[in-house]
Amino acid sequence: MALLQIDNLTVQFETATGWFKAVDGVSISVEKAEVLAIVGESGSGKSVAMLAVMGLLPWTAKITADRMLFEGRDIQNISATERRALIGKDIAMIFQEPVASLNPCFTVGFQIEEVLRVHLRLDKKARRARAIDLFCQVGLPNPEERLNSFPHQMSGGQCQRVMIAIAIACSPKLLIADEPTTALDVTIQKQILDLIMDLQAKNGMGLIMITHDMGVVAETADRVVVQYKGKKMEEADVLSLFENPRSNYTKALLAALPENATGDRLTTVSDFFDGNPEPAPSAGTNGVNA
Ligand SMILES: Nc1ncnc2c1ncn2[C@@H]1O[C@H](COP(=O)(O)OP(=O)(O)OP(=O)(O)O)[C@@H](O)[C@H]1O
Ligand SMILES: [Mg+2]
Repeated sequence: MALLQIDNLTVQFETATGWFKAVDGVSISVEKAEVLAIVGESGSGKSVAMLAVMGLLPWTAKITADRMLFEGRDIQNISATERRALIGKDIAMIFQEPVASLNPCFTVGFQIEEVLRVHLRLDKKARRARAIDLFCQVGLPNPEERLNSFPHQMSGGQCQRVMIAIAIACSPKLLIADEPTTALDVTIQKQILDLIMDLQAKNGMGLIMITHDMGVVAETADRVVVQYKGKKMEEADVLSLFENPRSNYTKALLAALPENATGDRLTTVSDFFDGNPEPAPSAGTNGVNA
């Protein structure tokens, strides 16, 4: 049984000119302890798809899916109470913007202890000890003092570490990491990525790594889903994707990597991609029509 199975997910938002499909019939599954990368350009619906799974989209979003199962259990039609018990505990998410995702009015210590209080019902002393342990695990210096800091008193990298600590606080079975390193300085991107991968291996978590960075995909993923304009273009194990990309869009993504540049200027996806994402007819089973 897959850890998470999403079939034919569609998310629409109403606009002045009608309904806009931000996610258009995407199916995704993640096995226990597997790392799935979702890659695609800005606006391709990566975050919206995962926020739909978490139940965190505004009520104005129209969400439909044939199936949304977590450990075989329907998570599409559960009550708000059941969802609150699941989200943040068994399924956790590292949000795209760490600083904006923390509450500016409370210390980070209060915010992490609140998760431990609600989900694990730990008493005050146990909460504090666990919070310090978690801050140690994510490499925050002076964890005891840090508990008293407000988000604005910390750097972006430190806030990201707090977010990761909150996400792993209840040892989730599935962690969704939404561009966990994009907002950070290059020098700490690798540290944060290594940290997430260490925790994934140590805890045997399923991990969905959302990124637009093919380097991150190569370093972390077992399997990859390529998304474009809300649609799944291709799905393959990581080696096949790099060695034998099927869809034109994936080929363009790979051709645009700096290391593949041939001339004296860097290329972009649009240099290689004419907007027709379909794979060639003989492309086999991994294409969008599979
Ligand atoms: N609450 C909302 N209301 C209306 N449209 C939205 C809303 N949230 C997202 N969208 C639109 O849905 C589309 C997909 O957005 P999404 O944030 O999922 O992109 P993304 O693939 O995560 O991009 P990025 O790499 O920049 O994070 C975008 O066109 C966005 O403008
Ligand atoms: Mg996003």
